[in-house]
Amino acid sequence: MPGAITGWGIALPDTVVTNTELEGRLDTTDEWIVERSGIRQRHIGGTVAGLATEAGRAALRRAGVGPGDVDLLLLATTTPDEAVPATSAAVHAALGLSGGAVDLNAACAGFVYSLVLAHGALATGSRCVLVIGADCLSRITDPDDRGTAVLFADGAGAVVLEQHEAGGLLAHDLGTDGSAHDLLVCAHGGTLAMDGREVFRRAVRITVDSAAAALDRAGLEPADVGLFVPHQANLRIIEAAAARLGIPMERTAIVLDRTGNTSSASIPLALAEAADGGRLGPGDVVLMCGFGAGMAWASAVVRWAGMPAARAA
Ligand code: ACO
Repeated sequence: MPGAITGWGIALPDTVVTNTELEGRLDTTDEWIVERSGIRQRHIGGTVAGLATEAGRAALRRAGVGPGDVDLLLLATTTPDEAVPATSAAVHAALGLSGGAVDLNAACAGFVYSLVLAHGALATGSRCVLVIGADCLSRITDPDDRGTAVLFADGAGAVVLEQHEAGGLLAHDLGTDGSAHDLLVCAHGGTLAMDGREVFRRAVRITVDSAAAALDRAGLEPADVGLFVPHQANLRIIEAAAARLGIPMERTAIVLDRTGNTSSASIPLALAEAADGGRLGPGDVVLMCGFGAGMAWASAVVRWAGMPAARAA
């Protein structure tokens, strides 16, 4: 039985920080940030458990699924609220879930990694998996470092995956190049340090190669992609990758101008906005690509399905 996304939800902290506000305390300008990254504002605040719970609750409501129906919660996060226990335990309790719960850290590739693993769980007997990507990057970002403070932000996005007569994971590509792990690091108790130029260079190449590999395994061409949902790190990375893949920007989901880089949350935030905006219909092919610290990457090609026939009736 293939699995499919039947619900989605998001959560963003109330506090919005605009580029103009950052101009006031950093040696930067709105013009530089927009030109180099595409980001205009970001949401800052909250906790990973709080944001993940809000997004997860919205996704369950949308799917019409009760907390007792969830067999597994996968929480992708780079910024767990505590070292121990896993933040997914707090989300599990807050939502009143049944079933298992585990955190997964693959930085900005974490949501797509989790999505792929969720399909594995569905293929081996789980009926319903809640996948949440949530991060509070502001917590590990030096607010005085103009190289990172203008980029990183907070948020959460969630999807419900259920066994489904249509839809499914058509193909995926997962990878990690641990030899590049020094390019983006944060020691315990420290703040993010990043070689932005090198991450940028690799991000474009990784996104293109991984997306192409996943499409190839699915037996599909870029022209078959109804919606491309890339990690929301930098508009220039997305534009360069989309151009090389041959996917027009009209078929690419963008939220980073309003959210900044929210790591594990960025892809489900963009996916949910597209779904709410009516950009996805049954049968559409969705290509999701994440890359991030590690460096880790993950691509998934899924067929959008809508509600299972029994519940849609
Ligand atoms: N405002 C003004 N000037 C700045 C700022 C700023 N906020 N930040 C850097 N600069 C300066 C630099 O000091 C540099 O000055 P110099 O030429 O005098 O040395 C100049 O701008 C150009 O700096 P670059 O780093 O070359 O700028 P670039 O065009 O590469 O843009 C950026 C920087 C936006 C960080 C880009 O490299 C990038 O997006 N890289 C990828 C980052 C990324 O995606 N990270 C997330 C990975 S996913 C995850 O796991 C979280």
